[in-house]
Amino acid sequence: MECGCWDLKIREDHRLLDSQRDALRGFLKDPTGPKDRRVHLSKILDSLGPSLRLHLQREEETLFPAFDRLLGGSSGTIPLLRMEHDHLRDLLDRLGRLLEDRENTSWETIAETGDVLAKLLEDHEEKESRFITDTLEHSLKPDELTRLARQFQHAASCGCQGET
Ligand SMILES: [Fe+2]
Ligand SMILES: [Fe+2]
Repeated sequence: MECGCWDLKIREDHRLLDSQRDALRGFLKDPTGPKDRRVHLSKILDSLGPSLRLHLQREEETLFPAFDRLLGGSSGTIPLLRMEHDHLRDLLDRLGRLLEDRENTSWETIAETGDVLAKLLEDHEEKESRFITDTLEHSLKPDELTRLARQFQHAASCGCQGET
């Protein structure tokens, strides 16, 4: 069925992140094949990193404030989700540093950090789809949802989502 849902762009972002996360997890599970595992993992992160950072920024600029306006900032959910966003960005940064430091970093440390990132991303997106999009959908009027979706799509469009 063609989805005419207000949150099409959000779903699209989440689908892309799901497939990038699966690529990360799949490679960490079976890193045989490529001659240089670190180079191959860097390529996976070159794709996941920018889309994840952009997505986090979009949510922080649009969905989270909308949710806060709705509940008057009384929900503990948004602070938790924001904390997880910071943690996800830290993990991306840490992985980047570990991959660069060939002399002092073992593959096991890199793989463990990658696994933590994949797991947190999965849990986080699951939580969001249950709390955020469902609550907004049931609470806002159709035209408010359409406006919110437009804001989401254009948020962070300056391209300044930071480094991978
Ligand atoms: Fe998020
Ligand atoms: Fe998300």
